Formats: sequence, structure tokens, C-alpha cells
Amino acid sequence: MKTIDELIAEGVDGKRVFVRADLNVPLADGLITDDGRIRAVLPTVKALAEAGAKVIVASHLGRPKGAPDPAFSLLQPAERLGELLGAPIAFAQDTVGPAAHDAVNGLEPGQVAVIENLRFNAGETSKDDTERGEFADQLAALADVYVGDGFGAVHRKHASVYDLPARLPHYAGYLIATEVGVLKRLTEDVKRPYVVALGGSKVSDKLAVIDELLGKADRLLIGGGMAFTFLKAKGYEIGASLVQDDQLSAVKEYVERAEKNGVELVVPVDVVTATQFPDLKTKAPSNPTIVAADAIPADAMGLDIGPETGALYASKLADAATVFWNGPMGVFEHPDYAEGTKAVAQALLDSPAFTVVGGGDSAAAVRTLGFDETAFGHISTGGGASLEYLEGKTLPGLAALED
Ligand code: 3PG
Repeated sequence: MKTIDELIAEGVDGKRVFVRADLNVPLADGLITDDGRIRAVLPTVKALAEAGAKVIVASHLGRPKGAPDPAFSLLQPAERLGELLGAPIAFAQDTVGPAAHDAVNGLEPGQVAVIENLRFNAGETSKDDTERGEFADQLAALADVYVGDGFGAVHRKHASVYDLPARLPHYAGYLIATEVGVLKRLTEDVKRPYVVALGGSKVSDKLAVIDELLGKADRLLIGGGMAFTFLKAKGYEIGASLVQDDQLSAVKEYVERAEKNGVELVVPVDVVTATQFPDLKTKAPSNPTIVAADAIPADAMGLDIGPETGALYASKLADAATVFWNGPMGVFEHPDYAEGTKAVAQALLDSPAFTVVGGGDSAAAVRTLGFDETAFGHISTGGGASLEYLEGKTLPGLAALED
């Protein structure tokens, strides 16, 4: 994989450099609630601009249906990028049309343009190679060089991620280089004990990674909504808690395999429950009740791991040498159900281990719960991407940068 440093050493002055970023930031009522992904691509954009490149930044935002949709415009993230760079940014209201060409043609060396959401064009995500290829051809016409730096999207076989680099000289940006370096430390010569905390709502999203980790990790700590499928698999009553009944047999098999492989698979011993899902908008006080994991009332749903579990998980993390954490332990967006996630985040901070927070919700949780993100070993910008990397899959966006 050639890196951006090699590109800069070769010279980029006046060249049009297409940077595939992941500016897919969370928005609430049109406002960016966490700009972590925009900040993460700044080193690449800055270095290219300083080296005199004409920088074209492109990304997806959300999942529009292959046509322009103002609800998913990249304008806000583009403006934020401009603020963070401290320089004006040209914004093109299309992806490969006249506005994009005008914006790029108007760039002076050192200037930056952002084009509109790549997913406004059906070719971006198409499963049809020809359709994707046609869109990639149109994108290629905008640039001389490709820099892949959208780590959060490298697991997608999309035109701008997979097909475009095949059409232009291609390099990895600083973010991708950093993320891959970190993930290698979780897969090659891992320092032990290697402890993985997994949360989030659906077991089905984590099946492949659990499968892989049962042969790699020393301990697996299970939290979040998916813990209730594990508790049900143990034969506990879980009341009205979230459950994926179709995953029960897979979970039972994991429990058996963990035992056979000597992997400690730890599930909650107590949970915070409520009879109603809390209001995440108003965050109005609810009525949380702590119960033992095997005593969830029929009309209650588990919404967080309980304090005993928080302490148990902290003790299981205390002597770790390597930690990977993906997925909140509860409904952290409401203060009544945030303690479990806080306990795990704090345990990571207290641990001398190399700690990696894997993207998406857990990264947002760390930031919104007020933790100092710089105190963690690494906070990944890619939830799905980092999980698929740990599953041992070939990621299209990385493979495309290899050759
Ligand atoms: C993410 O948020 O995980 C990435 O930006 C990829 O987005 P996607 O899941 O919509 O492809």
C-alpha cells in the first residue's frame, strides 16, 4: 500500500487529488452532533493542500436512495471541514455534473472542494459492476490521483471505494494508515490477556466477529441489547427485553465453544430495567430498577448492565494487555441507562492495556459521555469496517489500495 507521504514526496503541486473520506457524521435536526470523522481526515486534507494539491473531498452521508435528497446533503459537513481547516471550501451541488467540474476547475493549488453526497448517484452503491464502473469513470474524470482515507467505508464495495482507485494512481491517507496499523495490533502478535467487550443491540451484527474472537480473545464481555439473547440462551426469563430468538441456537453454540476453547465468556449478573422505553429526546427521568439477571420481571425490559456487572467487567478489564470495545453496554443516550457504558469506558481508561474503541456508537458514547478521547489508545472511525477487519474479511477499500 503506497502512502500519502510517498505521494507528497513524488510531488502533487497543481495535481487534482481525489480524497475519499468518510464524512458520514451523526446529524440531529440538521446539526452535526459529533464531528469526529471530519476531524479525523484533516491531517490528510491539510498535508495535501499544503503540498499544493487541488484537493477534492468526497464522501457519502446516510443512506439516500441513489438520487439527490436534501436531507442527506454534505453541505453541513463540508462547512465544518472548512471551519476546521480555517480556509474557505468550494462546495459542488452535484457529484460528477457541471457543478463538480466547475468547482474543481476553479481550484487553485492548495485549495479544497467538496462534492455532494456520492450516494446521490445510484452507481455508487450498485451491485452491478458495469453501473458502478460507469460512475467510477465519471469520478475519475475529476482527478489525477486518488487518496483513500474513508476508513469507515472500506468494507463497502462501492464505486468511490473500490472501483475508482483502480482507475487512478492510488495511495492510502493518514487515517487509513493509522487505523490499519492499530487493527494489526489486534490481529497479529496480540499482547495477552486480550479482552473484548461487545455491546450494541443486535447479536446478528456481531455473530461473525464473535465466531472469530472465540479463537483469538481470552475473554469476551457481553453487554447491550444483545446480552438478553445470551441470558435467554442460559434459560433465564428476560421479560420484555430485546431478544433475537432466531440467534438462540448460535449463541448456545458460542457458549459451548467458548468453554471448549478456554475463552471466558462473561454475561451480565444484574441489569437496569424499566417498564417503558425512556424518552431519548427529552431525557425525562424514568423509573429505572436494578434486578438480578435471572430475576427480570415479565413486564420489564433490560436497558443497561447493572452496577455489579459494571464492576465485574471492570475487574475483567483490569489486567488486560489488549482491549477492543465495540458497542455500548446500554441505552447510554439516556442518563438513567448510561452507567454501564460509563463503567466500561472508565475501566478502559484505568487500564494500562492498549485500548481500542471500535467506531460507531461506542465512539460517540465516549465523546458524548464526556470522556477525554485522547486518553484512549485509539478510537476507530469505522464501526462496521473495524468489525469486518477483525472477522478476517478482505475489505474492498483496502484491497483496492494494495495493488
Ligand atoms: C458507517 O457509518 O459505518 C460508515 O460511514 C458506512 O456507512 P454505511 O453503513 O451506510 O455504508
